[in-house]
Amino acid sequence: MDLDALLATRRDGYGMPRDFYRTPPLYDAELAHIWHAGWLFAGFACEIAQPGDYITLSVGGSSVLVMRDDEGSVRAFHNVCRHRGTMLCRADAGHVRAIVCPYHSWTYSRAGELVNCQGMHEGVDKSALGLKPLATEVIAGLVYVSLAAEPPDARPLRDAFGIAAAPQGFERAKIAKVVDYDVAANWKLVWENNRECYHCVRCHPQYVKANFDVYDEATASPAIREKMAAAVARAQSKWAAQGIAVTHAHGGLATFPDPERNLWFAADRTVLAEGWQTESMDGRRVAPLMGSYRDADVGVLRMRSLPNFWVHASCDHAVAARLLPVDARTTRVRGYWLVDQDAREGVDYDFDTLLPFWHLTNEQDWEICRFQQMGVDSVGYEPGPLSRVKEYNVDAFIRWYLARMRA
Ligand code: FES
Ligand SMILES: [Fe+2]
Repeated sequence: MDLDALLATRRDGYGMPRDFYRTPPLYDAELAHIWHAGWLFAGFACEIAQPGDYITLSVGGSSVLVMRDDEGSVRAFHNVCRHRGTMLCRADAGHVRAIVCPYHSWTYSRAGELVNCQGMHEGVDKSALGLKPLATEVIAGLVYVSLAAEPPDARPLRDAFGIAAAPQGFERAKIAKVVDYDVAANWKLVWENNRECYHCVRCHPQYVKANFDVYDEATASPAIREKMAAAVARAQSKWAAQGIAVTHAHGGLATFPDPERNLWFAADRTVLAEGWQTESMDGRRVAPLMGSYRDADVGVLRMRSLPNFWVHASCDHAVAARLLPVDARTTRVRGYWLVDQDAREGVDYDFDTLLPFWHLTNEQDWEICRFQQMGVDSVGYEPGPLSRVKEYNVDAFIRWYLARMRA
């Protein structure tokens, strides 16, 4: 495969050609240029609260182990034994006193040091055979890892998410529910779908009641524009008391990503429609307030980082997605529902009211992605034009992708 020649086949202002969504050699190049090069969201620190708690994730076939060590720090390693390479921890999540390889029992501490390789009589230098560490960042309760030998500077991410996420209190949250979705679509289709709300009216009847994303400045009616302006004005004055502000005051999605500046993460806060306190089916709260919020009127905090994370956080709960590539046509998406750590199931929240808004939205999106993959797989597929008013972020995503792949 001639990578540069393939990348050059994308026509400006159009979707990507067929081979971009289905070619295994290109998928392998994406692992190298994107998935194994930048920072990935691995999970929430609250999932591994105690020393010995761990989670694992597979990044295009490379298994990563994220563990809380005895000092309380979060560490990440390649989940690969230094003897003959067996995968060490096999569950998605668990707890261990030490990491014991299931093959020949080499044993590693929670800090990744090789502490026992009994039976190796020929004098093994244990100090050279610890688990291979990965760069790790814990930012406002979010765990990021990088598989890169030299990870990109994480300070801008730390600064942006550290400030934006602070009031939400992810460190004082718990995971109420996790749902794993195997989406039968290339990971880029999942992102393209996420980056526009052109499809929302048709596909997300519950989502459009709560949010203004579907309207854009250029085509919104005067009545809608008035509604948006009133919601923003109400929020601006009220939110100041809680130390938060509207950072995206228009219709349509905030511009993201920014390929020119390689801006691969962003956070913004938007207002909800009148009468909506949270992203639930009827707009009513579904759990106690999270973090430092003292009032339900905080709109929605939205954060995202390429290539694998987004979250929509309301006053009382947050719903996140973690993407992992499985192959050229499959993306594993983990959906997380978070509430305050003290909230009790059946007392303070119920799955019947907590889950549907985003579970429905997720399933609606994955179904769209699945059928888009099927259409794109056809020899009859030819990329069509992107709307400059509705799909500017799809275009931005494609340009970000092309820049990463050419880097
Ligand atoms: S492969 Fe792990 S101990 Fe042999
Ligand atoms: Fe959608």
